[in-house]
Amino acid sequence: MISAPDLLETFPFPFPTDSYRYSTNVEPAGSAVHTPVGRWGERVVDIDSEYENELAERARILAADPSRYAVLPHMRPACWDTMLTLMREMAAAYPQTMSLDRDGSRWCWRNARLGITQHFVVGDEATLPAEPLAYIGSQVQEDIVLLDQRDGDLFGDAGVVTFAADWSFGFDVGMTFLEIHGPVPRLRESGVITRAREFLMRLQPGETYRRTNWSMTIGRRLDVSTERYHEWGPDRTRIQTVSDEEFGREVHLRVEVQHLIRLPESGSICFLIRTYMLPLADLVTVPAWRDRAVAVLAELPDDMADYKGIIAYRERVVEWLGRH
Ligand code: HEM
Repeated sequence: MISAPDLLETFPFPFPTDSYRYSTNVEPAGSAVHTPVGRWGERVVDIDSEYENELAERARILAADPSRYAVLPHMRPACWDTMLTLMREMAAAYPQTMSLDRDGSRWCWRNARLGITQHFVVGDEATLPAEPLAYIGSQVQEDIVLLDQRDGDLFGDAGVVTFAADWSFGFDVGMTFLEIHGPVPRLRESGVITRAREFLMRLQPGETYRRTNWSMTIGRRLDVSTERYHEWGPDRTRIQTVSDEEFGREVHLRVEVQHLIRLPESGSICFLIRTYMLPLADLVTVPAWRDRAVAVLAELPDDMADYKGIIAYRERVVEWLGRH
């Protein structure tokens, strides 16, 4: 095993069948999904052994590139709403280390895993060490996008996104839901994305849904944003000529568990993207996963393989998995 054991045991393997096509694949959040080696899915905000590493990575990325964080002025109430919602989720999921208490207008947040006890008043930014979205973004492994609903449409008007898979939050901020999905092949024609938008606009306050999405990444690298393409793009060529051992260690199946929450106070939609990565060398230790990944990758249409950035090395992935 290359990864810490909990990363295998909680890995959200994304292929329920031997073939893959885009679908809205949305389901109510919160139910456990059992896998051959463990389970995932019970928590909306999920903390694992990478918590401290990933928060440090997020802080480094934000310090180097502030465009990964944006809040359009009308989104301030949604940011408070998001902060409280995520604190409640964490307190419910990790009661030993996290709690959220209220005494009139004074709130107290405790995150013992990070040694934090913070008193604050909702709406008063001076009572927090950072703006509310930045503050909660520094305590969750999830990327966060907030969508405003107005004029019969959804707009990505705020967020903190440091682990984007081949897109740019700074470029997308302020765009509509359909514009954000513009570059994805097949999505518009298939009707998937317009159906997803209708579904999202009907979400009721407090309702939470989830879906998964996947791609592949070379190295355990979370920030494969467009901004840093010059750093990670060349890996897609380099990986074709490395040794078998290095190939299995470097190539990762990358899965996003995405949660969709209609925020109770502001009415905005909170979109959480939690990224999990498992190297092929660990994936093959679970034969059912290996066989299904081979089947899906072998038959993935070229345009989708191209969009996902794996077209140059997917045949080697299929061949490598088949041999191990
Ligand atoms: C039910 C809801 C949703 C569905 C069905 C959906 C579907 C998809 C699909 C199929 C892809 C292509 C992914 C791939 O092949 O790697 C995609 C990409 C993406 N999605 Fe969504 N999505 C949903 C919600 C959202 C929301 C709420 C956001 C908010 C910002 C979002 C942002 C993105 C972005 C930024 C990309 C990458 C686009 C690019 O390459 O520039 N999605 N989505």
